[in-house]
Amino acid sequence: MLSDLERVDKILASRTAFSRKETKKLITQGRVRLNGRLVRSAEEKVDLAADVLQLDGKSLLLQKRLYLMMNKPAGVLSAARDPKQPTVLDLLPEGYRRTGLFPAGRLDKDTEGFMLITDDGEFAHRILSPKRHVPKTYHARIDGPVNERMVKAFADGIVLEDGSLCRPAQLLLLESGPESLCQVVLTQGMYHQVKRMFVACGRRVLWLKRTAIGALPLDEALKPGEVRKITDKEILRLLDKI
Ligand code: URA
Repeated sequence: MLSDLERVDKILASRTAFSRKETKKLITQGRVRLNGRLVRSAEEKVDLAADVLQLDGKSLLLQKRLYLMMNKPAGVLSAARDPKQPTVLDLLPEGYRRTGLFPAGRLDKDTEGFMLITDDGEFAHRILSPKRHVPKTYHARIDGPVNERMVKAFADGIVLEDGSLCRPAQLLLLESGPESLCQVVLTQGMYHQVKRMFVACGRRVLWLKRTAIGALPLDEALKPGEVRKITDKEILRLLDKI
């Protein structure tokens, strides 16, 4: 198997809040260990697939690319950074922080659910590209009854208030009543799309959660704000290869 070698200082700088220069100090202070042995030089090479690199006794995630699934809570922005408001990246536990991470795709501030966070731009592009039509599944609570006419309108392609025509979407009624619960599957991602599609049918979305991307469902064990790594097998499901 091919090994992926990187310098100790480069890894430390990309996986912690320390700059490259500061990581050299960490090494001279004896705070860095490679496979249990003290690191003496910033130039030492680390095998990302096989070695254990520790800072102050804590192991760093060496994996070259990181793919995370977060259950985004309402009230948090799906942006990398914001001067005033909390973002999904602010919620990441220490062990998952590294440079280059970004949320792949947008959810509104009040939308909950599956947020993909990665540092792999090419992968994010494959999931998000308008050309690939990777389906995104949402659960929505609506302020009124939902009927067969709306299901057909979603399937035919809704025309939004600004005249844009949506691609055919699947609307499934799960609970009908004065407030209804629906599942919506979209293969495109226009701004506020689910909310605007319901507005076009005379309804308002009261609550919205993304529950799947491609064939990969949100892990129901994740509480709002919690995050976990996406396994290699799940990545294939995301890309719809199995
Ligand atoms: N559609 C919306 O209206 N909002 C979202 O956050 C996602 C899809």
